[in-house]
Amino acid sequence: MPTILEQYRQTFSPDFQLKQQAQSLFPDGVTHDIRYADPYPIYVDRAQGSRKWTVGGHELIDYWSGHGALLLGHNPPNIVEAVTRQIQRGTHYGACHRLELEWAERIIDLVPSAEHIRFTNSGTEATQMAIRLARLWTGKNKIVKFAGHFHGWHDSLIQGYSPPYDQPIAGIPPSTAAMTHVCPPNDPEVLADLLATDSQIAAVILEPTGGSFGAIPTNGEFLRSLRQLTSEHRVLLIFDEVITGFRVAPGGAQAHYGVWPDLTTLAKIMAGGLPGGAVVGSVEIMNLISKNSPQRMPHQGTFNANPLSACAGIEMLKVAQTGQPQSHANRIAAQLRQALNSVVDQHGLDWVFYGEFSALRFLLGHGRADIRATSTDGISKFDPYDWDYRQLKGASSPELETHLQAGLRLHGVDMTPGGGMTSTAHTEEDIALTAEALDKTIGRMRADGVITD
Ligand SMILES: Cc1ncc(COP(=O)(O)O)c(C=O)c1O
Repeated sequence: MPTILEQYRQTFSPDFQLKQQAQSLFPDGVTHDIRYADPYPIYVDRAQGSRKWTVGGHELIDYWSGHGALLLGHNPPNIVEAVTRQIQRGTHYGACHRLELEWAERIIDLVPSAEHIRFTNSGTEATQMAIRLARLWTGKNKIVKFAGHFHGWHDSLIQGYSPPYDQPIAGIPPSTAAMTHVCPPNDPEVLADLLATDSQIAAVILEPTGGSFGAIPTNGEFLRSLRQLTSEHRVLLIFDEVITGFRVAPGGAQAHYGVWPDLTTLAKIMAGGLPGGAVVGSVEIMNLISKNSPQRMPHQGTFNANPLSACAGIEMLKVAQTGQPQSHANRIAAQLRQALNSVVDQHGLDWVFYGEFSALRFLLGHGRADIRATSTDGISKFDPYDWDYRQLKGASSPELETHLQAGLRLHGVDMTPGGGMTSTAHTEEDIALTAEALDKTIGRMRADGVITD
């Protein structure tokens, strides 16, 4: 029997050819850090529903869900039809158009704190805009974020997104980095002290269900204390709902928890699987972009509100507003986590699959014999709130992660380095197949000596 990595090289040999070419084109051979894989990435040729197929024809159940952009799975017919129709009518008018109005109205109707909106091309651009608006609104310059929370890759917010959380990011001037405080997550006292001692803070930004869609989870109680603290200190509260928006609930995490931020950043699902982002907030704050604002924020962007993203977004939101996709994706994710944890417990491993809503997060090799993924027979059940955040996100053994991802791919499942997300396309059959793939992969990892008892 070949090892997992030997068989990976055999099964994904057409992908290897492309990886060789990619190596001469891109740093690390990839176009996004998390698509990097050992021994090398897969190359996908097409996708449909919950599945995708590599260039060699290998079928995979896909839990990447387009980095979270695909709430309805790959190629939902209503979006395919709308985009196909629109592409024949023009991809870029260099002008205002009707679709941007309907897109904006649908978003404003769904997101409770939204009164006005400005479109961007990505989530990174949206968080950049939100903090600029906050600086202008408050006349202050510093930003508070939380360790492990990801807000895109620009200079002001990238620090502290992954372990080691306190290291500077190369290429960012120290004077810029000094404008951002990285606080421990879920600790209102640390934030209260900071707000009391630093009068230069313009905004607090966070992922409202926790860092990396709940790898380091947070909850309504923390959100409510943030709302109170920021209001007391006249600091803006920004919810980065790039991933939670329209996924957690039709109105995002703010609707789910009943906590209204001052500004909200959106991307992913709102653009129906095409590129797009936005900032929403009160008319007064958003009007800082207006020509009539004495101290205005200039804003451009070639592809802002382009008709293709707009029509895909409209179709996505028509379905998302019913609440049915979120119920399905959340329910199937809960079943998936349970099925995978049963496999983990049957094998007696110190692994766990966890998360809330439609998230699948994993932690491999946590090293605590007294903790099981699900069991209650005298052994504690895993609860991420009992763990220090440094033991959660990015804390899995890299060797286990590499073998898990490679082994699952061999057995027909593609997870992200941290787990993944579900969509309306995922079925109970997918769950059963994924649990079977995990069981086989763990068996192979034992045979390879990667897991030792
Ligand atoms: C919460 C959050 N904010 C911002 C971003 C950045 O968005 P984009 O990749 O569209 O720039 C992401 C992307 O994963 C995200 O998850």
